[in-house]
Amino acid sequence: MSHIPHRSHWNNRWTFMLATAGSAIGLGNIWKLPYMIGVNGGSAFVIIFLLCIFLVGIPLMMTEILLGRRAQKNPLDGMNVLALEAKTSTHWKWLGGMGMVTGLLILGFYSVIGGWVLRYIGASASGAFSNITAMQSTENFNQLLASPFSLLFWHTVFMMMTMGVVARGVNSGLEKANNILIPALFSILLVLLGYSMSVGDMQAAYQFMFSLDFSKLTPTVVLSALGHAFFSLSLGMGSVMVYGSYLQKNVSIARTTIYIALADTMLGLLVGLAIYSLVFANQLEPSAGPGLIFQTLPIAFGHMPWGNLIATLFFMLVAFAAWTSAISLVEPAIAWIVENTRIRRKTAAFFLGLIIWLLGVAVVLSFNEWKEVKIVFGLNIFESLDKLTSTILLPLGGLFMAIFAGYFMKKDHVQDELNLAGYKFKLWQMTNNYIAPIAITAVFLYLLGVIK
Ligand code: PHE
Repeated sequence: MSHIPHRSHWNNRWTFMLATAGSAIGLGNIWKLPYMIGVNGGSAFVIIFLLCIFLVGIPLMMTEILLGRRAQKNPLDGMNVLALEAKTSTHWKWLGGMGMVTGLLILGFYSVIGGWVLRYIGASASGAFSNITAMQSTENFNQLLASPFSLLFWHTVFMMMTMGVVARGVNSGLEKANNILIPALFSILLVLLGYSMSVGDMQAAYQFMFSLDFSKLTPTVVLSALGHAFFSLSLGMGSVMVYGSYLQKNVSIARTTIYIALADTMLGLLVGLAIYSLVFANQLEPSAGPGLIFQTLPIAFGHMPWGNLIATLFFMLVAFAAWTSAISLVEPAIAWIVENTRIRRKTAAFFLGLIIWLLGVAVVLSFNEWKEVKIVFGLNIFESLDKLTSTILLPLGGLFMAIFAGYFMKKDHVQDELNLAGYKFKLWQMTNNYIAPIAITAVFLYLLGVIK
């Protein structure tokens, strides 16, 4: 397919990889995975999560990149183009549309959590964690949650940072910074891990996360693990598809995907180990929920040499990781507006930003004033948005992408993008056409009560 000349392309494979890794690596790894492990009973969740990454996440990431690169467009128009090429219904474009909306819904709460991270940079730098006790740390965090104004302020800052970059366009933004900052994040995590190993209870953490104990395995655990595999790899909503649309033709999709998925998963598990060895050493609650890292990490930083400095650096890097993910959450919608209307990128960024910001205000209130306002299944606004997007919309998006690539696109066209040797192609086909769709459908049916 011919390239559309005005679309910018990544400089080389590295920049695409770092940008996509930048989308994948974010709060999902550092904030969400650790507490999900705790809430879902430890190793049962970890094992199912890993299975989901390998059997569903990796093949579907390849699928999403190939769809994007073939279409050379934003998800909605892209699905339209691909449907035309495959001579099938153009209603497929709504799959792209759904993804764009999903991204905005996710950013509504993502930005609020991003705000917590920003707040913690300042707190670290001012030495607020020096010699902090476990109780003080929990108290600090609860105080932050109880203050709508503080949350709102930091949510606003995070949204402005995000939309500021989006308004300028991806290429001129962060791709170069990714080069240094992702490796920096890994390095600082190793320092943290080293510290946790020396003072924490690494053995208990290891047991908790990796023992083969399926006694805690429930359908909710499976669903959460599947949902988190999507969330963590940024799949099912078009972020990866948009980035794929900027990827050059001669780059191997499979190899790139594997690097990204491995880096993403490793990072999450490293944070998990570091956190749980502190949790067990300090008799904290593994199932503390969304506040987990904000309550445990300050205790570690507060007692290690150079703790204030390391904490400040750590939260800065996490903020950066969250920032690059946040950008990828709005990019599909922005790309659609810019490529379809005469609205300028800057204006589009401003108005979309405003809508997401408002959604974020509701999320902020759900941590305090509106704590008791329940939306669905007895969940508050934050929890509802999180569950709706991670466990329903993203897997649903992924399921349809898999079906489209597997059953509607011409095999030659798929192979033209993937360019894989025979058995490797078969492997992708088997996972994309059978394993992933069946797994996702089974989990959904179970939820609907059809499979008992
Ligand atoms: N993968 C990102 C993270 O782990 C979140 C994200 C989800 C980004 C979906 C884009 C799309 O933080």
